[in-house]
Amino acid sequence: MRATSEEQSMRAFQVSGTEAPVLPVRRRVPVPAAGQVLVRVKAAALNARDRLIVGGRYSAPVPPGRVPLSDGAGVVEAAGDGVTRFRAGDRVMSTFHPAWIYGPFPGWGELYGVQRDGWLTEYIAVDERSVVGVPDHLSYEEAATLPCAALTAWSAVDGIGPGDTVLVQGSGGVSVFALQFARLAGARVLATTSSAEKARRLKDLGASEVVDYARTPEWGARVRALADGRGVDLVVEIGGAGTVAQSIDALADGGRISLVGNLASGGGMDLTRFFQLGATLRTVAVGSRSDFERMNRVVARHRLRPVIDRVFPFAAAPEAFAYFEKGAGMGKVVIGL
Ligand SMILES: NC(=O)c1ccc[n+]([C@@H]2O[C@H](COP(=O)([O-])OP(=O)(O)OC[C@H]3O[C@@H](n4cnc5c(N)ncnc54)[C@H](OP(=O)(O)O)[C@@H]3O)[C@@H](O)[C@H]2O)c1
Repeated sequence: MRATSEEQSMRAFQVSGTEAPVLPVRRRVPVPAAGQVLVRVKAAALNARDRLIVGGRYSAPVPPGRVPLSDGAGVVEAAGDGVTRFRAGDRVMSTFHPAWIYGPFPGWGELYGVQRDGWLTEYIAVDERSVVGVPDHLSYEEAATLPCAALTAWSAVDGIGPGDTVLVQGSGGVSVFALQFARLAGARVLATTSSAEKARRLKDLGASEVVDYARTPEWGARVRALADGRGVDLVVEIGGAGTVAQSIDALADGGRISLVGNLASGGGMDLTRFFQLGATLRTVAVGSRSDFERMNRVVARHRLRPVIDRVFPFAAAPEAFAYFEKGAGMGKVVIGL
């Protein structure tokens, strides 16, 4: 690989361990080893886990100085020896699980932002097997939203089709993609949210009915009534312990819950009612690279456009984290480089 002198030093942000979410640092531009590509990062996106990582609240220890963010997109700048999948100039995206290529979930291995440095950096050297091509119609900012949130949503609505009714909770990154994929699959989609403006926007994206969960604490019964009194076939559960009881109230006989997140604290689920429904609870762990590639073929075929709430410039990464922490927006928060 050929390195030019101006590539020697680069800007990045690292977890600060202080009040500030992230701090700017200068690091050496990595040199790609055999089998690696050097990616010039053009955009990176925030997920709920990144709030926990920079806030010192993540479930695994995060070493000081770690570069955060699992999700990024950029252009291949150089390739190490033996690289065959990509060449300089190719547009690529990260995968959330860098080593899960295909097959069943292998467990939570080394993840960006936790055990290895992530994508909030100008350059990153990664195994060529851990990146995938960007669908042609997407900008780098749009592509950066896909690796975690979109693939999680794709996995969560797996098996849904015409005739099914799906409930998505709120208007965050995963939920908006779940709405889009469920609509693409021909399903009817109901949503919950906490404001009239977001309800209007969810309807514009294809939700047939939206329930305000803040004004209607017993929203499960309301959703069931709106789903022809029968209930929904699938809930994309991002609230977890604080919402699952209502999700069960919303569920049809034989329905499924895809357990994605745990944003709402609360008492958990009534197992007796769950058993009576003959329901299924399935956890989602984002997905493999092969799942991601299949999803991207559908994204490309339907020219699906991710919903971006705001794009912050690289230098304003701390402001992006502060804005994302407030949760005021809808869809994805992105940092452009
Ligand atoms: N298992 C996995 O593979 C996986 C992958 C990705 C994410 N996750 C998890 O999934 C969850 C969502 O992640 P994300 O990145 O999409 O988060 P996000 O973009 O930060 O979503 C925030 C939104 O969630 C909604 N919300 C919060 N509490 C809610 C409640 N009680 N009821 C309904 N909606 C509620 C709010 O929507 P409104 O503003 O509309 O009210 C809020 O704006 C997180 O817990 C995350 O850790 C898991």
